[in-house]
Amino acid sequence: MPTVTFQVGEQLFSEAVADNTNLVVRAGIKKFPHPHLKAKCGMGKCGTCACRILAGAENLPAPNWKEEKVLGPRIAAGWRLCCQLWLNHDLSLTQDR
Ligand code: FES
Repeated sequence: MPTVTFQVGEQLFSEAVADNTNLVVRAGIKKFPHPHLKAKCGMGKCGTCACRILAGAENLPAPNWKEEKVLGPRIAAGWRLCCQLWLNHDLSLTQDR
């Protein structure tokens, strides 16, 4: 089970989640990281769920075409779309700029 740590400002929220968890789906059913995660479409279109990976990026798959289209050069700075990620390893992330 991966442990996800979500940083909001100075606060850290951490929880173990089931393998293959999508954080936007989870937030949609009012589970962690609800209400801290900003998300909207859940389809890789709006960019609202953009997050900066603080640790664990090496375990994520390469960004898909939706992430490349929405995030562009921010990918090189460690940004991903939460709605496009299914987690199987520990991850630390933030939506702070
Ligand atoms: S929620 Fe819209 S792109 Fe992820």
